[in-house]
Amino acid sequence: MSAAAAASPLRLLTVLGTRPELVKLAPVIELLDAEPALRQRVLHTGQHYSYEMDAIFFAELGLRAPDAALQVGSGSHASQTAAILTGVEAELVRTPADAVLVLGDTNSTLGGALAAAKLAVPVVHLEAGCRSHVRTMPEEINRVLVDHCAALLLAPSAEAAANLRREGIADKDVAVVGSTSIDAARRFVGPARDRPIVGAVCAALGAGGPAELTLCTVHRAENTEPDVLPDLVAGLERIAEHYPLCWPLHPRTRKVMEALDLRVSPRIHLLPPLGYLDILALLCRVRALLTDSGGLQEEAYAVGTPALLLRHETEWTYLVDSGCAALCGNREATIAPRALALLTEPENRRMRAAAARHASTAGDGQAAARIVTEIKKRLLRATP
Ligand code: UD1
Repeated sequence: MSAAAAASPLRLLTVLGTRPELVKLAPVIELLDAEPALRQRVLHTGQHYSYEMDAIFFAELGLRAPDAALQVGSGSHASQTAAILTGVEAELVRTPADAVLVLGDTNSTLGGALAAAKLAVPVVHLEAGCRSHVRTMPEEINRVLVDHCAALLLAPSAEAAANLRREGIADKDVAVVGSTSIDAARRFVGPARDRPIVGAVCAALGAGGPAELTLCTVHRAENTEPDVLPDLVAGLERIAEHYPLCWPLHPRTRKVMEALDLRVSPRIHLLPPLGYLDILALLCRVRALLTDSGGLQEEAYAVGTPALLLRHETEWTYLVDSGCAALCGNREATIAPRALALLTEPENRRMRAAAARHASTAGDGQAAARIVTEIKKRLLRATP
């Protein structure tokens, strides 16, 4: 009898709660569900809860319903993380698991991992080893803590694995598997390409075609501070004078803009948060992406679009090193000159060529399959 046939099914609890976790875990959850050697339960923390931040992603990605839900909702970092921590603990006590799977760097990731680690349940961390090296970012704290309580660390790249080695994590606990956001982008870009949103946005901005436009997203805590956001928006306005800009607003950003009564010119088209297919439709047709999102900068290169980062650093250093993304800072003084230089025809073409070159050698769309292989290889135990 093979080892797999002799093994009892591994009980796995997958914890998720935010928009990026839905996108990046969808391909993994589907494969884990199909594995006879595993029995997966999915717990949704409820960190994200609005239709456009949550339910639409289940529908578009074909993600099955969770087995348990906490409905923690919004709150301060401490109260939200605490609710997730106690909620996941209660779930693990009620329905024991042999391992807990988390992804990335959100409060849901930290709460899920910590609850498991305190019950001595092994933690599997996807997107392990990413570092911005900025300890004031809530995400940096979350990902460092999760990496250091994880039993199996599945890194997206060799650079991320090297970060873990530098922090003293044993190589035997680490494997490089790639990024599942690339898996999802590759799978859905075809069906997304011709969605009506592209024409609607061009019409709203009076643009001849999407190649004249830029797509923008901003949501990070450090970029939505009241003393930062107006200056950042001033930088976007300078870009929009040359390349009209469409900007789906994250609820956090909308709230701050409303509180500051911050208005934008008609060259900037504000939209509600978009579903996965609409954002992908725009992403693959626009001239460039301006963003502070980690997930979107990877998806941009997967579909061959340059990413101009509204940050001073990135966890995805390989994108900057390979020339398909560039750091533009988060203030008008840096955003405007850097981004405008990179949006010119020769520079835009150069970044597109870099993205196409890189996409052909990295990110083969098989990260989810490698993740499942690693989980089976390292966590399945033969029945005594
Ligand atoms: C969280 C993650 C961040 C991730 C991002 C994707 C942490 C620390 N941060 O940030 O890493 O990139 O998700 O969006 O976990 N809101 C709604 N509807 C929702 C969810 C949120 O209106 O469904 C509003 C609430 O007012 C909330 C605010 O958005 O206070 C921020 O949401 P929250 O989940 O706290 O953080 P994000 O900024 O989304």
